[in-house]
Amino acid sequence: ADQQYDYDVLVIGAGPGGYVAAIRAAQLGLKTACAESRETLGGTCLNVGCIPSKAMLHASEYFEAAAGGAMAKLGIKVTPELDLGAMHGQRTDAVKQLTGGIEFLFKKNKVTWLKGKASFEDARTVSVGKDKVTAKNIVIATGSSVTPLPGVEIDQKVVVDSTGALELPKVPEHMVVIGGGVIGLELGSVWRRLGAKVTCIEFLDQILPGFDGEVRKEANKIFKKQGVEFKLGTKVTGVAVKGKKATVTIEPAKGGEAETITADCVLVSIGRKPNTDGLGLDKIGLETNQRGQIETDHDFATRVAGVWAIGDVIPGPMLAHKAEDEGIAVAENIAGQTGIVNHDVIPSVVYTWPEIAGVGLTEEAAKEKGEVKVGKFPMLANSRAKTNHEPDGFVKVIADAKTDRVLGVWCIASVAGTMIAQAAQAMEFGATSEDIAYTCHAHPTHSEAIKEAAMAVTGKAIHI
Ligand code: FAD
Ligand code: NAI
Repeated sequence: ADQQYDYDVLVIGAGPGGYVAAIRAAQLGLKTACAESRETLGGTCLNVGCIPSKAMLHASEYFEAAAGGAMAKLGIKVTPELDLGAMHGQRTDAVKQLTGGIEFLFKKNKVTWLKGKASFEDARTVSVGKDKVTAKNIVIATGSSVTPLPGVEIDQKVVVDSTGALELPKVPEHMVVIGGGVIGLELGSVWRRLGAKVTCIEFLDQILPGFDGEVRKEANKIFKKQGVEFKLGTKVTGVAVKGKKATVTIEPAKGGEAETITADCVLVSIGRKPNTDGLGLDKIGLETNQRGQIETDHDFATRVAGVWAIGDVIPGPMLAHKAEDEGIAVAENIAGQTGIVNHDVIPSVVYTWPEIAGVGLTEEAAKEKGEVKVGKFPMLANSRAKTNHEPDGFVKVIADAKTDRVLGVWCIASVAGTMIAQAAQAMEFGATSEDIAYTCHAHPTHSEAIKEAAMAVTGKAIHI
């Protein structure tokens, strides 16, 4: 270690970006500390994000399979009883085990956890609580938090954000979800499956911005069929809470007549914003962009020498795996190696039922860049999905019309999140649709639908 400083690397924030950066830096022989103000490590993802939401999605999926007749279709007759306390218990257990696991990994790799809120004093000095520490390299991995809706106060009882929505002590009768993005659809699904009526209000004309157009439309159809009511092209102008009820005032996004909806739970899920408040960026002369993000170069270096940034606090999709990969890359760059993240190939998954996943360009974006060929295959024609009574969804492969190189893959399928990994790997290796079409896929698997969609790019799928 450089004797001039307390640490070679100080990471601010122990989310999937920060804790991974810290572990990799330590693995590379650098003396490393990680500052985290939360009681437990793991950031948004492990504490109040990916992990607890998946715990509730998994459990509620079983509940609905039992209650909604999917199990009966398989010859299993059950009348389930909801024990919401136990369901929350298995959620908090999962979080406890995984956050504890990161603490174990810190000890194993000799990463020092500095407990407290970190703030820059200068580009090499950070105060953490009452202490001041110095480091040769400082990585900002402070993540993001909920974007508030002006005029709507989150009380975590009637009006909740994603954290409150994970912990509701009782199933709401009517939940109004503001924002038809990933959080709204995942957490709306949890409570709908457990018995709530769910109304989703989305400002744009379609849910899931950023996803392929056809996928957005089909997903909307599927969620409607499941009983979610959608008000698209609609904005919320106010939420008034009286006792245990909320009155939500909405009007068409383009303007028009207002109407009100009453609910006993309102979930605000209109996006997340980067965490830079109180970080003392002004003390090191680092400015954020218009969206409040810290800009970096391809190596994750900011404009201030020795200060780096990764994860939700920098531009790009706000996803745990993107943050993790950037964490590895930044540590390798600090150690003088070549750390790279290919931002063109970052998969995105919505863990609803069915799952919705994509990687690469949407058809719309691909067409803007040039001529494309598209192959599609419905899950209805996939033998495994059909046998499992999972008819909804499709796979779509988008390839360059001239080179056949795969530009994007999109799926709606029960296990789309698992299927998309092979598409990401193929794209990372520069695969053509023909490469995928001539790769032997195990039968009967859902993944065969990716092979058949790739075959359909040249019009030669077998089972349709
Ligand atoms: P974070 O995980 O936000 O961690 C940042 C940490 O820094 C926090 O613990 C914070 O306390 C700490 N911190 C901030 N400022 C300071 C400071 N000044 N001093 C000390 N510590 C500080 N992504 C997926 O890929 N898959 C999913 O299924 C998924 N599900 C999600 C579900 C929900 C409900 C939510 C809210 C998010 C979900 N995400 C998911 C997004 C994912 O959680 C984030 O993309 C990811 O956590 C970002 O990692 P990060 O390390 O950049 O920041
Ligand atoms: P989001 O950006 O996915 O969706 C927000 C939605 O709200 C958009 O559709 C937007 O048009 C709409 N909206 C914005 N303002 C509105 C208004 N005033 N009224 C009505 N609708 C409005 O954000 P979300 O769902 O809050 O999630 C935040 C981030 O967390 C996402 O960017 C995602 O990356 C991450 N996340 C990822 C998950 C996953 O990977 N499975 C799960 C949950 C979150």
